[in-house]
Amino acid sequence: MLLAYDSLTGNVRRLARELAGHLGAEAVDVRSHSPSREYLLLTYTFGTGQVPDSTRHFLDQHGHLLRGVVSSGSYHWGQNFARAADVIAARYAVPIVAKINKGGTAADRVRVLAWLEERSV
Ligand SMILES: Cc1cc2nc3c(=O)[nH]c(=O)nc-3n(C[C@H](O)[C@H](O)[C@H](O)COP(=O)(O)O)c2cc1C
Repeated sequence: MLLAYDSLTGNVRRLARELAGHLGAEAVDVRSHSPSREYLLLTYTFGTGQVPDSTRHFLDQHGHLLRGVVSSGSYHWGQNFARAADVIAARYAVPIVAKINKGGTAADRVRVLAWLEERSV
């Protein structure tokens, strides 16, 4: 499965590239790539619990190939923590694979890798 990421300050980009490296999979930037196969979306939360415009624009065009979502956020945002994942999962009826603080922990990586491996990347 393809990893499609959106990232403003680099947390999600680093995570996506690291996961892709582990799996021998491809990680692509949603702002410059049109996927032709199923993907896991990794994005972040912006505004007040919102989906970034760049992610929304990508999903408007390629939402039919979305299979799961990971959102980064910051615990600092309380009930809006990583809420982009909730919004996207509800809208596209896909599972939330993980909600992570900033760049995520080793446990977050294990969780996302397990999900991807189950789907035989
Ligand atoms: C203006 C702004 C608004 C943010 N709003 C939220 C928010 O509502 N909820 C949340 O969990 N994180 C929020 N964040 C934190 C980011 O989602 C978090 O730092 C994330 O790791 C950024 O990913 P990136 O480094 O890949 O861009 C916000 C960050 C900024 C700069």
